[in-house]
Amino acid sequence: MAEPRFRSFAGGEDLPAAAALDAIVDDAAPVVAGRPRTIGVMVASVDGHAAVQGRSGKLGGPEDRAIFRGLRERADALLVGPGTLNRERYSTTLDAHQRAARTAQGLPPEPLLATLSRGFTLDEDVPLLHEPLTRALIYTEAEPTYAVEEDHVEVVRLPRATGAAALADLGARGVGLVNCEGGPSLLAALVREDVLDELLLTVSPKLAGGDDALTILRGALGDGDGPHLRALRLRGVWRSGDVLFLHYHLAHGEPA
Ligand SMILES: NC(=O)c1ccc[n+]([C@@H]2O[C@H](COP(=O)([O-])OP(=O)(O)OC[C@H]3O[C@@H](n4cnc5c(N)ncnc54)[C@H](OP(=O)(O)O)[C@@H]3O)[C@@H](O)[C@H]2O)c1
Repeated sequence: MAEPRFRSFAGGEDLPAAAALDAIVDDAAPVVAGRPRTIGVMVASVDGHAAVQGRSGKLGGPEDRAIFRGLRERADALLVGPGTLNRERYSTTLDAHQRAARTAQGLPPEPLLATLSRGFTLDEDVPLLHEPLTRALIYTEAEPTYAVEEDHVEVVRLPRATGAAALADLGARGVGLVNCEGGPSLLAALVREDVLDELLLTVSPKLAGGDDALTILRGALGDGDGPHLRALRLRGVWRSGDVLFLHYHLAHGEPA
């Protein structure tokens, strides 16, 4: 099958995913000292669903996968909530040629996998944790509920398992770019804590319908009643066929 191509609404030619990603990654939000650049990478249907029958896979397609996997190839770390790791049964994150490309650049073959679990709710049998190439960090404030035996999986105890604390630790380990692949609870926590810098949202050309849609953020963005809106600045709009990609920067410390 032909590789998908991507066109910016700002003009120009159709580009392969790598060139489109270069343009997106080059447009970084201002760096915040003490933590890595953190991008939320999510997909939603046109009517706002972030999952169909409990998983996001049916919302994706080759275009979304090319961007999602290409961004993973550029990331130092993936931050993924335990709900998503458990539900989506994460196994591999990159293809063999992407690992080879990273190795050729002197990078570890796989980005670091980080998760944040206040209560240690991560399932023991998530396949990715048992992959030999995985290097994983489990940030938690709770006593592990099972013995973590893999040498490449480190449990990092934090006094409070917050996104800010996990990102500060990742920064101290030399991580410069973090993709937060959700899920909606973890992403909402990062927005609440004001530590999410950017959002790359794929709008899947699908309608999902149904009641009680899970959207890309689960949980209020502030304390107290009522909506707590956060402003976004639109930086780029791309399309590949019927699929839209929206790149936003979040304005730190600024409600909508
Ligand atoms: N459309 C997309 O792009 C996309 C992406 C990812 C996932 N999904 C979908 O989202 C669903 C999973 O969503 P989810 O929200 O349950 O998963 P999640 O955000 O991956 O993980 C939820 C868990 O995060 C932990 N957590 C850590 N800090 C938190 C905080 N401050 N606030 C709240 N939770 C915190 C909690 O576990 P502890 O209690 O242990 O702290 C919580 O149970 C699945 O259906 C998946 O398919 C969609």
